[in-house]
Amino acid sequence: MKPKKAVGRTNGASTFLLSDKLWLKAVKNRTARVGIMGLGYVGLPLIRTYCAAGFDCLGFDVDSSKIRSLNAGKSYIKHIPSALIKQMVATGRFKSTGDPKRLRECDALIICVPTPLTKNREPDMSYVESTAHLVADHLRRGQLVTLESTTYPGTTRELLQPILESTGLTAERDFFLAYSPEREDPGRKDHSTATIPKLVGGVGPKSSKIAVALYRAAIEQVVPVSSCDVAEAAKILENVYRSVNIAMINELKMLFDRMGVDVWEVVRAAATKPFGFQPFYTGPGLGGHCIPIDPFYLTWKARQYDMTTRFIELAGEINTSMPQYVIYRLAEALNGKKKPINGSKVLVLGLAYKKDVDDIRESPSIELIEMLRKRGAKVDYNDPLIIRTPKQREHNLGMTSKKLTATMLKSYDCVLIATDHTAYDYAWIVRHAKLVVDTRNATEGVAVGRNKIVKA
Ligand SMILES: NC(=O)c1ccc[n+]([C@@H]2O[C@H](COP(=O)([O-])OP(=O)(O)OC[C@H]3O[C@@H](n4cnc5c(N)ncnc54)[C@H](O)[C@@H]3O)[C@@H](O)[C@H]2O)c1
Repeated sequence: MKPKKAVGRTNGASTFLLSDKLWLKAVKNRTARVGIMGLGYVGLPLIRTYCAAGFDCLGFDVDSSKIRSLNAGKSYIKHIPSALIKQMVATGRFKSTGDPKRLRECDALIICVPTPLTKNREPDMSYVESTAHLVADHLRRGQLVTLESTTYPGTTRELLQPILESTGLTAERDFFLAYSPEREDPGRKDHSTATIPKLVGGVGPKSSKIAVALYRAAIEQVVPVSSCDVAEAAKILENVYRSVNIAMINELKMLFDRMGVDVWEVVRAAATKPFGFQPFYTGPGLGGHCIPIDPFYLTWKARQYDMTTRFIELAGEINTSMPQYVIYRLAEALNGKKKPINGSKVLVLGLAYKKDVDDIRESPSIELIEMLRKRGAKVDYNDPLIIRTPKQREHNLGMTSKKLTATMLKSYDCVLIATDHTAYDYAWIVRHAKLVVDTRNATEGVAVGRNKIVKA
């Protein structure tokens, strides 16, 4: 990284932005160096945002293939084009490394590592913990560390701070520590990392002030809150809110199906009320790295306070049962054609957990494929964004996306729309399919062949 003339630096290798004053100046002059740890769906757009704001950025990841790819100007996330990475590299302001010794070169270290659940559905803090130890090994005075990973309230104070302070350095005096949740929604066109308001809470007033200044330099609106705990809790609230409301609509869908009422039309009708109602939409089940997982971080934490988070548990129960409901509807639809699932050919459209992204983490499509296979169906899939199924922690489907043609569509007993990618021509799909089970209302605008469509 090319060193700029910096305030508060003693030499090229060690920087000491020890006071908030020096920090604010370094942010203003763009001489503060920003390190992002974890260059995934969250870290990569964030580093792009800091690069665009004129900061020298160092990306750090333990996955060496990602580092190689980025340094060669190649993206591994579909909605972030390689041209953009090339452009960032060409500015000379963006480098990536797997060498933790280089963490010392950064004034700010922003942590964007995974926070999944263990097999027992408890928080798996191993990534945050190992990153915290890595930071501690290289921590130096004047650095700002912020955590962005979604987690339970208390993480920054109770987990991160003690690990960082085990170095003998003290937060607020020697280094600064804050939490700022990532609210990224991959694939969204109307917002980017820079336009989504950013909540920021520090472990103390200096940390808050410095973190707010750093985020304000790259992000349009920064919302300071009084503590890390509030920022952590606000992020979890956002995800619990979605999970609970989606569960409610999913339950109503099952009821309205029995009553012969179309839940999609009902939600659209209710949403015409100009206040007091926000629409949520049903689907084949929750997916992605956030909504199916994050609420359970709070459930786990609540036990320490002798509380049961009943809304979260109930929502989880309903949402995780949705793939079973889809299979039930699909079995009924096939039954109407005098066919059992066993031996039927089913084409699943869409593997990603939501439209127009290439992310299959927690995707209900994977579960649907496994459930169909278990029942004896011959299953294929098509997803324009996922050419073959990657090996995951708990799944290895070993499948390749089939090319869509009119003849191949005709050859399946059922086409199951699991993800409503924009690239699909739904009228064409319905025209050539024998039977379509639609979990996303993707075929809403299709006029011809409606008798072939079953919503699920
Ligand atoms: N994906 C989203 O849409 C989204 C949205 C909001 C919040 N979040 C939260 O952001 C966090 C990151 O999610 P993500 O989707 O970017 O995950 P990701 O898996 O796409 O990326 C995480 C990256 O961290 C790297 N990593 C793991 N351990 C590391 C370490 N010790 N040091 C450096 N790098 C390390 C991994 O190799 C990976 O590249 C999670 O807490 C998630 O809940 C994600």
